[in-house]
Amino acid sequence: EAGALWGGRFSGGPAPELAELSRSTHFDWQLAQYDIAGSRAHAKALARAGYLDETELAGMLQALDDLAAAVDSGEFTPQPMDEDVHSALERGLIEFSGPELGGKLRAGRSRNDQIATLVRMLLRDHAATLTRLLVDLIDATASQADANFDAILPGRTHLQHAQPVLLAHQLLAHCWPLVRDIERLRDWDARANASPYGSGALAGNTLGLDAELVAHDLGFAHGVENSIDGTASRDVVAEFAYVTAQIGIDLSRFAEEIIIWNTKEFGFVTLSDSYSTGSSIMPQKKNPDIAELARGKAGRLIGNLAGLLATLKGLPLAYNRDLQEDKEPVFDSIKTLEVLLPAFTGMVATLTFHTERMAELAPQGFSLATDVAEWLVKQHVTFRDAHEITGTLVKFAEDHDLDLDQLSDEQFAAISPHLTPQVRSVLTIEGSVASRDGSGGTAGVRVREQLAALTERVRAL
Ligand code: ARG
Repeated sequence: EAGALWGGRFSGGPAPELAELSRSTHFDWQLAQYDIAGSRAHAKALARAGYLDETELAGMLQALDDLAAAVDSGEFTPQPMDEDVHSALERGLIEFSGPELGGKLRAGRSRNDQIATLVRMLLRDHAATLTRLLVDLIDATASQADANFDAILPGRTHLQHAQPVLLAHQLLAHCWPLVRDIERLRDWDARANASPYGSGALAGNTLGLDAELVAHDLGFAHGVENSIDGTASRDVVAEFAYVTAQIGIDLSRFAEEIIIWNTKEFGFVTLSDSYSTGSSIMPQKKNPDIAELARGKAGRLIGNLAGLLATLKGLPLAYNRDLQEDKEPVFDSIKTLEVLLPAFTGMVATLTFHTERMAELAPQGFSLATDVAEWLVKQHVTFRDAHEITGTLVKFAEDHDLDLDQLSDEQFAAISPHLTPQVRSVLTIEGSVASRDGSGGTAGVRVREQLAALTERVRAL
């Protein structure tokens, strides 16, 4: 059977139904250049161990270069009879080098150690791409924080008015999780930085191949410690899928906020025309589709992780064909984020914030009540009494349809002699925000420091 890597002990070729089920070139072809890089390194290890002489090695490397170029140009492509990227490329190598030379490369390696290595190589490259895209989003968000630095919005808990905060503080609260996602990718890389090449099918190789040499050639710090673990485990792939799911969740939380802010009722933001969509029937519509797609795609990213974990659960050692199912979910997660992140960044960079509208709503819902209570504590009233007094104040204001700053001095004094006219100093949203100057707080001085710290942390990544 043309292309098959395992004809010898079989009396017939695979049934067409099997070939159809087994074939993976429609997704693993993405690994072609990594496969060829692995073959180059493996050829050098074979030569070092005495299985290829200098001329053979040169011929092999030349054939691999020719093959790489043909793959790049699209001149060489997988054919229906190729089971996977490895079989297709071996067929290609033999076309370029002849069967005599090309047939030597397979010694001492297995598709099991190959695939485990190549997946790590691809994921490591995309971790770098995702890092760059996340930095762009953090930069765009931090720039908006800087450009709207004095804007105050009603901070919420339970989606109810809670306390006023700087818009910049809120925007930076979306940046820090993204910073941690980048750090997660970097931490992950410390575990991905080991090459399974040389593990063979599961038990290692007999040919004295230098796995460390191959590892270094392929950009890994070292080889794996255990050939069974190296070929059978995919926790590194699952961990990558987790980080992509977490990125999806962090984008989704940010997206949800933008969707709410963009409603007529909130009116906090306007989306740029270039980053919003219309309706085919309602001419007046301008929809936040990027944010909604971000929210929707988070579900898909979580699904990719959950599916992969389910595939891995209960697999006995060592390699099982189930492991072929590791690639599509994680490739999909990469593609999803690499398309989503630039659109999301463009949407954030082009948002217009309606700061007057935010400021108008910020004091509503008695959001300054905590400030009154804490002001009383500063006058040496116990917090228990302060809470009680402020509660009475809020009830009075609510019953009389007044905001807290609309009460007269006499009304304040009637509620409690502790409520002197000086309490008015905390009854403005600016005063409230400025007073929260504890570490990590929303006071302008703290948020300025925070913005500088964020920039510093991102620069250090
Ligand atoms: N295509 C397989 C995978 O993606 C690698 C080949 C190993 N196949 C095998 N029958 N041992 O996991």
